Amino acid sequence: MNDLKDKVIVVTGGTSGIGEACTELFARSGAKVLAASIQDAEGRALAERLTAEGHQCVFQRTDVSSEDDVRSMIAAAVDRFGRLDAVHANAGVLRNQKITDITLDEFHLLVNVNLLGAVLTAKHAIPVMEKQGKGVIVFTTSVAADIGFPGHAVYGASKAALVALIRSLTTDHSPHGVRFVGVSPGTIDTPMLAASCAGFSKPKDELYAEVAKKIPVQRMGRPEDVARAVAFLMSDAAGFINGCVVPIEGGTLCLPPW
Ligand SMILES: NC(=O)c1ccc[n+]([C@@H]2O[C@H](COP(=O)([O-])OP(=O)(O)OC[C@H]3O[C@@H](n4cnc5c(N)ncnc54)[C@H](O)[C@@H]3O)[C@@H](O)[C@H]2O)c1
Repeated sequence: MNDLKDKVIVVTGGTSGIGEACTELFARSGAKVLAASIQDAEGRALAERLTAEGHQCVFQRTDVSSEDDVRSMIAAAVDRFGRLDAVHANAGVLRNQKITDITLDEFHLLVNVNLLGAVLTAKHAIPVMEKQGKGVIVFTTSVAADIGFPGHAVYGASKAALVALIRSLTTDHSPHGVRFVGVSPGTIDTPMLAASCAGFSKPKDELYAEVAKKIPVQRMGRPEDVARAVAFLMSDAAGFINGCVVPIEGGTLCLPPW
């Protein structure tokens, strides 16, 4: 059902956490994957590992907040593999700060990577997909767009902006063959989440156990949980799913507020 064989897919932030799991799953499903991020060593190692397994994956260093980088990321995928079927606009950063403490540099980083990065990725992928008459772009949002997590004001705002982006892109570009979908992860065990534990007095494992108990399915999310959903949303089987955001959060959004 999640047939990605021979599809050409770009994954931004594709070398760590959720994006790495996506790159691995897509390549192992027979897709031709360009993984992009600012992690040179990790990116090269991931592409070499998947290539050694007999899959098709290349890495391209890309800062998604640079229009030149994003333009050449999309061009590299098309030059190398001949077309562009799907993009996962997944690169993101998190800074835990109350708005009264946030610096302008932190604000600009959050907005430049999480929002501008997604905007530029869509801007340069859409013309290729419209020319083909077909394509899909999946954006990684967050439940922080729906829940008022402490210290997540600007991060949550940068992710909520993607929801509006998805809706307008759908009305503008879906008539020309491009679908737009968001995935909204809950608490997923990745390097980003581990780094966010640094400010707490308890050790990470204790914090994770406490969080897992609060999630209705009684466990944290794994990067693979998100990757499987993204693979389905990119597949032709999901062809009528468009302009919406799919929560992948074990039921977190169902919790009562007390
Ligand atoms: N982990 C969670 O609990 C969680 C929950 C909700 C949403 N998310 C979102 O999921 C996405 C992936 O996060 P993750 O948890 O896997 O984190 P991660 O830190 O493991 O991965 C983030 C990736 O983004 C890349 N990146 C950062 N800045 C970049 C830039 N300027 N240009 C290009 N790439 C850049 C990093 O190199 C890395 O590959 C992010 O958008 C994040 O906001 C994560």
